[in-house]
Amino acid sequence: MSAPAVIVQEVGPRDGLQIEPAWVETADKVALVDGLSRAGFSRIEVSSFVSPKAVPALRDAAEVFARIERRPGTVYVALVPNLKGAERALEARADELNLVMSASETHNHVNMGMGHDGSLAAFTRIAEAVRGLPVAVNATVATAFGCPFEGAQPPDKIAAIVARYLDLGVDGVTLADTTGMANPRQVRDLVRRILGQVPADRLTLHFHDTRGLGLVNVLAAQEAGARRFDTSLGGLGGCPFAPGASGNVCTEDLVNLCHETGLDTGLDLPALIRLSRGLPRLVGHDSRGQLAKAGLACDLHPPPAAAA
Ligand code: COA
Ligand code: ZN
Repeated sequence: MSAPAVIVQEVGPRDGLQIEPAWVETADKVALVDGLSRAGFSRIEVSSFVSPKAVPALRDAAEVFARIERRPGTVYVALVPNLKGAERALEARADELNLVMSASETHNHVNMGMGHDGSLAAFTRIAEAVRGLPVAVNATVATAFGCPFEGAQPPDKIAAIVARYLDLGVDGVTLADTTGMANPRQVRDLVRRILGQVPADRLTLHFHDTRGLGLVNVLAAQEAGARRFDTSLGGLGGCPFAPGASGNVCTEDLVNLCHETGLDTGLDLPALIRLSRGLPRLVGHDSRGQLAKAGLACDLHPPPAAAA
């Protein structure tokens, strides 16, 4: 079977749930991840091994990893901020570590309690710790398209951080628009530039729909050559340490866009819709997704009796 045209990494169990104020039971998190596995994801970000004081919603990360089904062909990813997080993630048998540092020093201090020097020193130790282990490492540039404290982030700065990541020997790089500040022109330019450093099969774009530009930015990134995207079921999500943060691009809405435009994702869209419709029960509120409300474009309705 050929590889899908678009690789969608589901980040709902991590980015989606980290900001939810109501506690989601561990069993419900496990069932969500298992449902996502069965819907065909090749990559799922399951949780984060961060300070439980910083993100109490994900304090059960180890237990979630211990209880999920490991579907062959699915890579189960853990977000980690520091060496302690990496050690916990390795202990939990994560397949891949996602290291996160913000382009903005200010946001990195607020989010991670350290500057670039601190994060990069931690990442160097993590790279040493995983050398020789069958564990992949991805590194994310958060606030790559703008920071709610500092504003615009120069493309040269992003390219320099990506170069530092590549020096560490990472397997993949993610550019994250943490608070939905990106616009399509900026996305096209930055993606073209970074594709000069990172091949398309190792570069992921992580957009938030905070200002309604999420899917437009996906299209702009695709036009520039990107083919890997992070999304969250139901469009849940957001960074608890960024003012005004809100949901990721919605998984099933993006998958629908891909399928309607002839791009295969390898995902079972009706299964995603069913999973998304179960989210309000988990999080206690409606979600942002459009497709779960509207149904597929091919779901036809009988005309009213009077018109028959
Ligand atoms: N997992 C669990 N506990 C951790 C940890 C980790 N990865 N890293 C540090 N801790 C614990 C320490 O053991 C210490 O515990 P104690 O108070 O019981 O002694 C406490 O957290 C403080 O440790 P310190 O190294 O001083 O960290 P800090 O308070 O400066 O916080 C981070 C730094 C990175 C741990 C914290 O800012 C964090 O977890 N940030 C993640 C935020 C996030 O997830 N944002 C959204 C995703 S991008
Ligand atoms: Zn995010």
